[in-house]
Amino acid sequence: MLVKIYRNIKRNITEDGLIVSSSGFLVKSMVGKIDFSRPLRILEIGSGRGAFTREIIQRMCPQSQLDVCEIKAEYNPWIEQLMTGNPDKQVRLHNCCVTELLTEAGRYDVILSSLPLKNFEGMKDNNAFLHRVIEALRFGLRDGGIYLQYQYFRSNKADIESIFGKPMDNINFVALNILPAFVYSMTKGAAEQRA
Ligand SMILES: C[S@@+](CC[C@H](N)C(=O)[O-])C[C@H]1O[C@@H](n2cnc3c(N)ncnc32)[C@H](O)[C@@H]1O
Repeated sequence: MLVKIYRNIKRNITEDGLIVSSSGFLVKSMVGKIDFSRPLRILEIGSGRGAFTREIIQRMCPQSQLDVCEIKAEYNPWIEQLMTGNPDKQVRLHNCCVTELLTEAGRYDVILSSLPLKNFEGMKDNNAFLHRVIEALRFGLRDGGIYLQYQYFRSNKADIESIFGKPMDNINFVALNILPAFVYSMTKGAAEQRA
């Protein structure tokens, strides 16, 4: 029994980059940064069991569109339940790597990511995949759109700032989460601002 719990925790950390689902405090801190007063095109990446998805669906207006990108189909039942429970909301689920989904420039007003960016560093490819992912996020965001990302230990801040060509707009610390997390907010500036 203990061995099974240990194996599950180890798998969660190495594959998904977390121990348990994000807390309500982290979810509210991050989703609270989105201005839902008008229709939005939103991309949520790495939904897992839908901690953020549930809150976004609740807050978005029926004219908004939410694309949920989760590479693992094993989480589909949680997301599909949220979709069937909210038939008035426009939600689509994509089981693929986010780099495959982000093919249209400037499509999204908001990108909210739970991607374990730190894990992408360990790929022995000189961070090529990590940088490809952040480039894809920037490409898919409209000018003025907002990219929200949580990370532990303030990791990958410099990678994001370098690819977006500007400092982070703000960073919030959320202590009540396992692990305590930093919420990054980055708005996309015009192309000429890039380093
Ligand atoms: C840290 S978990 C977050 C789960 C949930 N959003 C939360 O915060 O509780 C990261 C999720 O990202 C997914 N993921 C990892 N790499 C991905 C990729 N390249 N494209 C899309 N999803 C990915 C994992 O399968 C995992 O469900």
